[in-house]
Amino acid sequence: MKRRDFLAGAFATTTVLPHLAAGQTSNVQSSFDRGTVTGSGLKFRFVCPALREKVHIYVIGDTHIGDDDERGKPFEQYSARMAAAYNKFDRHANLAKAVKQATEKKIDFVALVGDIISYPSHSGTEYIRQTMDGGGVPWAYVSGNHDWHYEGEKGPQTELRARWAEKRLKPLYQGENPLMFAKVVKGLRLLFIDDSIYQILPEQLDFLKRELARGEPKILLMHVPLYTPGRGITLGSPDWGWDTDRNWQIERRERWSKDGCGETTKEFCHLALTAPNMLGVFTGHHHRQEMDNVRGLTQLVTPGHFSAPTAFLDLTFG
Ligand SMILES: [Fe+2]
Repeated sequence: MKRRDFLAGAFATTTVLPHLAAGQTSNVQSSFDRGTVTGSGLKFRFVCPALREKVHIYVIGDTHIGDDDERGKPFEQYSARMAAAYNKFDRHANLAKAVKQATEKKIDFVALVGDIISYPSHSGTEYIRQTMDGGGVPWAYVSGNHDWHYEGEKGPQTELRARWAEKRLKPLYQGENPLMFAKVVKGLRLLFIDDSIYQILPEQLDFLKRELARGEPKILLMHVPLYTPGRGITLGSPDWGWDTDRNWQIERRERWSKDGCGETTKEFCHLALTAPNMLGVFTGHHHRQEMDNVRGLTQLVTPGHFSAPTAFLDLTFG
């Protein structure tokens, strides 16, 4: 798909969103001001006075690489459905072309926000690691709900996620904790959180609290978007739970909790949305571009990168 064709269905107007200024002190500047957000197509600029130099980042999600090789044969009963998904798109080429562009444009960092792979195959994991390393641009990865999921495998999602992060996806984390970690790019802190099970663990909430206490400008990178009224079921939705889980049989996984959204998850979402030093939240999962402003905080959802090499967010901060 050509970029102009893709953009015809995407956010293609220019928007200026004034943010509330907040007086919290920062290690970067004595007072913090979220500044403004301007956008056109898939390019956005976060004009943040707290950052002294520009930071240029690509956010890529939902490439859905679904190939496999001989090593995947024993897992076909778990991988067949997703192996057949998005097959008309050249997803390998999409990732390679995006990385090539990042290299040529001297991008500071590439953030992969989940569903980069459709199930934890050896070959897909190796392809992603080699392609990303080959570009020479620093990068990081956090999982989506598919990356670690072999459909039909029995067990709690927390355990299956931990198992395949360790057994198969480990090279993509480059030594980081798969659940949460921070990268610093020219003074901007990039917080990666795995919210692929729609729930936040206590250690992830503690991590966010420690990070928010630091003061520097930061952004949040996850797979499932934060709850936004009017957007349906996402992380922290009050309606999330047993009755609203429409896909558990199709995806052959544990059904969402009868108890609904946990208090830890609610607190995480509240803190993320209200933190004065949070510049924005960047996610995937919906396979279409979305832009929301929740109480002054911008959330952008990147389009499905399976669809085109240029279907990703091109962000500048500072
Ligand atoms: Fe996806």
